[in-house]
Amino acid sequence: MSSNRKILVLPGDGIGPEVMAEVVRVAEWFDKRRIASFDMTEDLVGGAAYDAHGTPLHNDTMARALAADAVLFGSVGGPKWEHLPFALRPERGLLRLRKEMDLFANLRPALVFDALIGASTLKPEVIQGLDLMIVRELTGGVYFGEPRGVELLADGTRRGINTQVYTTPEIIRVARVAFELARKRRNRVCSVEKANVMESGEMWREEVQKLRDSDYPDVELQHMYADNCAMQLVRNPKQFDVIVTDNLFGDILSDCAAMLTGSLGMLPSASLGAPDASGRRKALYEPVHGSAPDIAGKNMANPLACMLSFSMMLRYSFDLAEEADLVDQAVKRVLDAGIRTGDIMQPGMKKVSTREMGDALVQELEALAA
Ligand code: IPM
Ligand code: MG
Repeated sequence: MSSNRKILVLPGDGIGPEVMAEVVRVAEWFDKRRIASFDMTEDLVGGAAYDAHGTPLHNDTMARALAADAVLFGSVGGPKWEHLPFALRPERGLLRLRKEMDLFANLRPALVFDALIGASTLKPEVIQGLDLMIVRELTGGVYFGEPRGVELLADGTRRGINTQVYTTPEIIRVARVAFELARKRRNRVCSVEKANVMESGEMWREEVQKLRDSDYPDVELQHMYADNCAMQLVRNPKQFDVIVTDNLFGDILSDCAAMLTGSLGMLPSASLGAPDASGRRKALYEPVHGSAPDIAGKNMANPLACMLSFSMMLRYSFDLAEEADLVDQAVKRVLDAGIRTGDIMQPGMKKVSTREMGDALVQELEALAA
C-alpha cells in the first residue's frame, strides 16, 4: 500500500518520548493490519534539539515540518533548560513551528468520557456529557506582539514589555473556523476577550460580531469577558459549545477545560493553518499537557491525550474518519475496562504504566478490527 501521508514525529522532552512511543505503535498497527499506512520520520525539538544542536528547532527540522502533511508533537521543556536565554528555551521551538507553519487555529476539544466522570474534581452532574471545543488563536496576540523584551532603566530598575496585537484579518480567520465548527456541532459560539479593559479586546468583539452578522446569521453568538468565562467553565461548563478566544486567554482557559475532563492527560489538540488551493491545511497535533518533568522517564505518563491527538490527525489531515473512530473507540473501551494511568486512577480500577496503556489500546484495536 502506498502512502502519501508524510508525518513528522517530534517527541520532544519529558514525557513526550514515552507517550509518543505508544502512538507510534498504534500507527504501526494500522500499517501492519493494512488499514492505513503512514510515512513517519522522527526528529528532535525543544531541549532535546538544544542538547544536540544548540537550538530548540534546527532549520532542517523546520523545513521538514513545512514539507510534511502533518506534524505529531509530544511536549517540550524542563528544569534542565530553564536557565537558558529566552530565544533558546525549548518552548521557542514549538512557538516557531506554530508561527512559521502559520497554524493560527488551535482546536482543543474537552470531552468527558463517562468512565472518567469520577476522576474529575467537579461534581458528576456538572460534567457528565460535557463536549465543548475551544478554538484558540495561536499565532498572534501577546505571544508574538512587538515590542517585547526587558529593558534596563536609568535608575537601575527594569521594565518588562509584551504587547497584545490583533488585526482584523487575524481575528476573522480564527472566528471563521469557530463558526464553521459550530455549524457541525450545536451551532453556538462564545467569543471571549477583555473588552472592558483592552482596546484590542473591544475590537475583537466588534470584528467577531460583524463576521457573524454578515456570514453566519444562523449561528448563535455570545460575548464573554475572559475572567467570567474562567468562572463559568467551572460553574456550568455545559453551557458552552464552541469558545473562540485569543492566544493567551486560550492557553489559560484550555488548561481549565482540560481539568474538567478529569486530567490534563486526556486533552488532545489540533493546530491548523489556512487551506491551500487543493484544500490541504498545514497541521500540527499535540497533547495539551506539557512535558511533566516530575514523572518523565518513569513509564507513568498517560499516553491518551497524545493518542487522541493522533486520532484528530487521522480525522482532520487525512480524512480517515473511520480509522479515527477506531482509535476513539479503543480509548473508550480501555477506560470502560477500568484501565488507568496514575493521573486518572480511581479506587477499584487497574493502575497501569504508559506502556501497559499502549498494550491495552492495541488489544482493543485488535478486538475492534476482528
Ligand atoms: C500550550 C503550552 C504552550 C503555550 C507552551 C509550552 C509554550 O502551554 O500549548 O498550551 O503556552 O502555548
Ligand atoms: Mg498551555
